[in-house]
Amino acid sequence: MDKPRVVLGVSGGIAAYKACELLRRLTESGHDVRVVPTASALHFVGAATWSALSGNPVSTEVWDDVHEVPHVRIGQHADLVVVAPATADMLAKAAHGLADDLLTNTLLTARCPVVFAPAMHTEMWEHPATQENVATLRRRGAVVIEPAVGRLTGVDTGKGRLPDPGEIFEVCRRVLARGVREPDLAGRHVVVSAGGTREPLDPVRFLGNRSSGKQGYALARTAAARGARVTLVAANTGLPDPAGVDVVPVGTAVQMREAVLKAAADADAVVMAAAVADFRPENYATGKIKKKDGKEPDPIVLVRNPDILAEISADRARDGQVIVGFAAETDDVLANGRTKLARKGCDLLVVNEVGERKTFGAEENEAVVLGADGSETPVPHGPKEALAEIVWDLVAGRLS
Ligand code: CTP
Repeated sequence: MDKPRVVLGVSGGIAAYKACELLRRLTESGHDVRVVPTASALHFVGAATWSALSGNPVSTEVWDDVHEVPHVRIGQHADLVVVAPATADMLAKAAHGLADDLLTNTLLTARCPVVFAPAMHTEMWEHPATQENVATLRRRGAVVIEPAVGRLTGVDTGKGRLPDPGEIFEVCRRVLARGVREPDLAGRHVVVSAGGTREPLDPVRFLGNRSSGKQGYALARTAAARGARVTLVAANTGLPDPAGVDVVPVGTAVQMREAVLKAAADADAVVMAAAVADFRPENYATGKIKKKDGKEPDPIVLVRNPDILAEISADRARDGQVIVGFAAETDDVLANGRTKLARKGCDLLVVNEVGERKTFGAEENEAVVLGADGSETPVPHGPKEALAEIVWDLVAGRLS
């Protein structure tokens, strides 16, 4: 089979150097990459680097190799175009259909999915002109990844950093795998919870669980690649922030409830993939609990935590909001799943069988998705992102 053909557009921002890492990821994973920098991008990283890393010729202008009609051919033959970094100027040109160099011509001729990874100073990103251009591009079906928050060039800090190249690569991989032009979650806001809550006993100890957060992160990445605005409420995961996802870190179940309720207020869908502790210690010791010589330890009294899934399902923030829960069961998986689905009041429940051999933290998963409408969708053993795609298929079907 031919290698998937990717055009890596690079516009003129300092983050151009990070695109070298993205290029390496793409070539090393078997993609044929044609780099199309703008003339300004070459001020930051030279043509020799792009050419050597991609193994393909590099030009910025439509006047090179005119006999091959590159201004049309490169875009027409691409399976994916990714522009990283995309400057404010590049977003404006793309939104308005300008075509004054090879990259902008390529964007006009491409009929494949297009991903933009913007990077710029916070003021430029927040300017209404840029925001309107981003909205235009999204409306037309492009995936525009939200910039990350952090240190910018110079002394500034704020929103506008290019997301980690490895995470941009993950978005590209998912968009390519779907191979559709229209991201079906574009214009939607989705909330995903991930990880496991920790309920503190004293400043150094907590009651926790072994959830890795990987399934929730796979859901967040997949939704972003399908065009959604994603809020990821993450409890104690230690995983890298997915590109374009707004991550809200929390510790306890009570904090998670607050963050989920806030984000769910304008959300089209909420997926509770987190392992939320059902109980927390009634008392928190402000000093470390010490052994008392010759004495039995004091018992730990537990109180119930709020059931976030049941609460948001019973009191929906919006009409038509789709709510998904997860359940881990050891026996009578389907029967227990049906009972739990009814008790929680959500629309879909992803039921995993857990047991001795099926451990937390694994890369793969096997499940059945039960619907409140009586539907039953088996998900064969496979990567967590495959399960994530099926969950979003079912959500998207209920949203439309
Ligand atoms: N959940 C929640 N709030 C809680 C506990 C769980 O929102 N306090 C959510 C989880 O995120 C998950 C679903 O509810 O989506 C299933 O949780 P689970 O703990 O399996 O359900 P329980 O009602 O606690 O059932 P069990 O008696 O099996 O523990």
